[in-house]
Amino acid sequence: MTSTFRIAPSILSADFARLGEEVERVIDAGADVIHFDVMDNHYVPNLTVGPLVCAAIRPLTQATIDVHLMVKPVDRIVPDFAKAGANIISFHPEASEHVDRTIGLIRENGCRAGLVLNPATPLACLDHVLGQLDLVLIMSVNPGFGGQTFIPYTLDKVRAVRARIDDLGRDVWLEVDGGVKVDNIAEAARAGADTFVAGSAIFGAGDYRATISAMRAELARV
Ligand code: DX5
Ligand code: ZN
Repeated sequence: MTSTFRIAPSILSADFARLGEEVERVIDAGADVIHFDVMDNHYVPNLTVGPLVCAAIRPLTQATIDVHLMVKPVDRIVPDFAKAGANIISFHPEASEHVDRTIGLIRENGCRAGLVLNPATPLACLDHVLGQLDLVLIMSVNPGFGGQTFIPYTLDKVRAVRARIDDLGRDVWLEVDGGVKVDNIAEAARAGADTFVAGSAIFGAGDYRATISAMRAELARV
């Protein structure tokens, strides 16, 4: 079991009219990673931001920018996000015709590669590629919107992926995304997650520092 926990606010719930300030505020408040949700109104029924916005926030922080691509197809846009300063690029296997090729493309472009499993996506998609991944992201809601309710059975998937990562013996981040709050973050950590995306729980609260500190206090008890 890992003891390094990372909190990754999702900018999806930030005030987009003041995005740069929001990124700086949430990092000042103790966040470790900026989670950057990219939606295309095709793979998911919502539309957000692209590489231009990633490039605009890049100079504002040294923190890891964790780009979560909810787009189909995937490959065309990967080099653009790499040039825009992404550190991690993750994608959904259903959105790529050739998962191995997409992972290679992300790494050739100098980024760490992640695979994202929807609640109903079988773990079998990791069978042959886990050794090439830097991150596995377990969706604890169906992708497309912030503010949804955490789906409890996804914790079983977190436990199963944690066991696979531990068997592998490499440092692969295990991230959960969707409906993570102060009152359930410890349960996700006990299941084996080490990186926690939280959008509405952090940006929906007035005091970012208080919320992130409350999350860390929960994690300290795991
Ligand atoms: C959903 C996104 C999530 C979302 C999380 O498709 O991938 O990152 O913004 O938001 P909350 O924490 O509000 O569920
Ligand atoms: Zn996300």
